[in-house]
Amino acid sequence: MSAAQGRPKQARAPSGGQRSTRSGKRGGSCCVRTVAVLSALLLGPVTALAQAPAVPEAARERALVRMVRQDCGSCHGMRLTGGLGPALTREALADVPLESLAAVIYHGRPGTPMPPWKAMLSEPEARWIAQRLQQGFPEEMAKAP
Ligand code: HEC
Repeated sequence: MSAAQGRPKQARAPSGGQRSTRSGKRGGSCCVRTVAVLSALLLGPVTALAQAPAVPEAARERALVRMVRQDCGSCHGMRLTGGLGPALTREALADVPLESLAAVIYHGRPGTPMPPWKAMLSEPEARWIAQRLQQGFPEEMAKAP
């Protein structure tokens, strides 16, 4: 009985019913799209971080050594013995907590020329560099082609 009662109602205003259904669908797909864009924005960096291994692979390790020698060296000295920035030698960093070194590398030190490197490095990589600096930073490998 209720189905029979519903039919004439739909027949009376078919276009109105369809329109509201369509606009409802449009609203839905719009929200789905927004959610997809948002989650892509949110998950993008997280995925990038998750992919970075705790210990860098050999090729990435070479790239990091090179970056420290060249980019960090431009301020901390080509031998990392100090320049605009302080020395980053084993002796100089012996008493500095590892986490604080890693944090300075990752976040920079606001108010000083020491820039953040988080655009170039994952947090584990910053910690890896800090560890290697405290051990005496390795030399660059012979140039790979
Ligand atoms: C533009 C110049 C500049 C560059 C490039 C730079 N630094 Fe620095 N860094 C500084 C300065 C200046 C300081 C000292 C900040 C302060 O006054 O506390 C510093 C401080 C540090 C410290 C803290 C040392 C300590 O004794 O607490 C670490 C560790 C460090 N830098 C590592 C790095 C690494 C690793 C890189 C490359 C990935 C790098 N820096 C690139 C200028 C630079």
